[in-house]
Amino acid sequence: MTCTSSALDDSITHAECGRTLSKREITGLLSLSDPGEIERLYLAADRVRKECVGDEIFLRGIIEFSSHCRNNCLYCGLRRDNQQAQRYRMAGEEILDLARAIEASGCGTVVLQSGEDPHYTREKMSGIISRIKGQTGLAVTLSMGQRSFEDYRAFRDAGADRYLLRHETANPSLFAGLCPGRTLDERIQCLKWLKQLDYEVGMGCMAGLPGQTLEDLADDVLLIREYDADMIGIGPFIPHPLTPLGGHPAGDAAMVLRMLAVIRLVTRDTNIPATTALGVMDGRSRGKAFQAGANVFMPVFTPRNCAEHYDIYPGKGDVMKADGAVLDFKPFFDTIGRPIGKGPGGRRKKS
Ligand code: 5AD
Ligand code: SF4
Repeated sequence: MTCTSSALDDSITHAECGRTLSKREITGLLSLSDPGEIERLYLAADRVRKECVGDEIFLRGIIEFSSHCRNNCLYCGLRRDNQQAQRYRMAGEEILDLARAIEASGCGTVVLQSGEDPHYTREKMSGIISRIKGQTGLAVTLSMGQRSFEDYRAFRDAGADRYLLRHETANPSLFAGLCPGRTLDERIQCLKWLKQLDYEVGMGCMAGLPGQTLEDLADDVLLIREYDADMIGIGPFIPHPLTPLGGHPAGDAAMVLRMLAVIRLVTRDTNIPATTALGVMDGRSRGKAFQAGANVFMPVFTPRNCAEHYDIYPGKGDVMKADGAVLDFKPFFDTIGRPIGKGPGGRRKKS
């Protein structure tokens, strides 16, 4: 598009042209309520998505390999104090079989996701990663929480390509209240290590956390920009009845869509999934996400007997049943003119 000076006071136009947005402008976009203006925001994000990462939707097959977690995040069903959570761990061989199935289904990336589970030692995890890299052509993304620099280095040496570590919220006191014993600074230190080790790095947050403000969400966007995240996952907070936050209202799917659109405008060439949590809140919003900036779909390949116990938030199981058959989504992707991407689909386009 052409950028005219007559549109100088229009932050959507400015963002589309690549101008750096102020916190005030970001807050303004996140608080849009007029349906026509919101549609303009989505359309601008959709154009930037097309220009910067193209039409392809890349698939990342998720394996939730352990439901054990040493942490106690107030929002999460896998928190260690939830005695009713059923815990399981997968053996290396099972993970490898699932990775092969993920490759056979046409995904270019496997995401190995778990709670923070020290059972998967540096050596054990490195072995699993190097076997997947040796036996498949998949990019390997890890999503297993905070570890030491040495662990991250060993995983990278074993062949891991990417790491997802959501910052959850950019508000340090909200973070400390929600993740007992943890600080936002530590989380950011981990993100810096991952960058230093040349991983492609994923950040992200929840929208609608109890006590979270619009300003906090604008700070999330700014933090993501500051650390130049390669991948960004945003989902609504969904109350889990077996957690201390079970009685709080859920986050708003429409706010998540505005976050995605603004993050696309601000970060341009990043990989942004339409998250499972968004699909739980509202299936149509998850579809809409692909027309408001998203370009990644993450189907879950965890076998049902385990997946039902990977109970981070309620409703996840139903959405996943639909995801398992990636091909079921093909007609929808076809109707919005979006081919499924081939290959790993990393930000750096090295393969
Ligand atoms: N609602 C929505 N998302 C959640 N997560 C954890 N608990 C919830 C919840 N109740 C997200 C966090 C975490 C990711 C694995 O799932 O952002 O990083
Ligand atoms: Fe554990 Fe992650 Fe859940 Fe926190 S959000 S309790 S670290 S699985």
